[in-house]
Amino acid sequence: MATAERLDVNEGISPDLPSTGWALTGVTSNERYVEREERVSLTTVQEGLGREHATCAALIPMTKSAAWRDLTQDVRREVLEAQSHHIAVGLEYLPAIARRLHHCRDLGGEFDFLTWFEFAPHADGAFEEIVGRPAGH
Ligand code: HEM
Repeated sequence: MATAERLDVNEGISPDLPSTGWALTGVTSNERYVEREERVSLTTVQEGLGREHATCAALIPMTKSAAWRDLTQDVRREVLEAQSHHIAVGLEYLPAIARRLHHCRDLGGEFDFLTWFEFAPHADGAFEEIVGRPAGH
């Protein structure tokens, strides 16, 4: 992707797309993997987007492999949490990091997911840390 000086974030069914540069589109969806107890833990500590102090943001587009998609739901859950501890690790970084997962594969986009994170400048180190942890991927 070409480097962009600025990023405009639009929400809505038919967001205004920029006439220059590139545009990525995704949708929020129901959760696929979160279990009931985890939902409680997440909703107890997480904070939403748009916090005044969270002036840093990161957009990480991601694509998973066809082999991942070919796994059954139960095996994907096993890999995501029992093996990789993605949710348990992520919980360690809440509420400092706020996040939203957008799905885009079924929209015919270039990526499978657009992951979006917001945090305060002092949490920059924590964000770099989680992205560097194996479970961050
Ligand atoms: C900040 C802490 C984080 C928390 C609390 C967190 C939490 C979660 C949860 C609960 C899910 C499951 C959603 C579902 O049930 O469908 C998920 C999925 C996902 N997360 Fe994270 N996450 C964090 C950080 C990250 C990071 C740093 C990345 C990568 C840069 C990432 C990438 C993804 C992706 C791509 C999925 C979708 C997996 C799939 O559907 O195959 N997450 N995350």
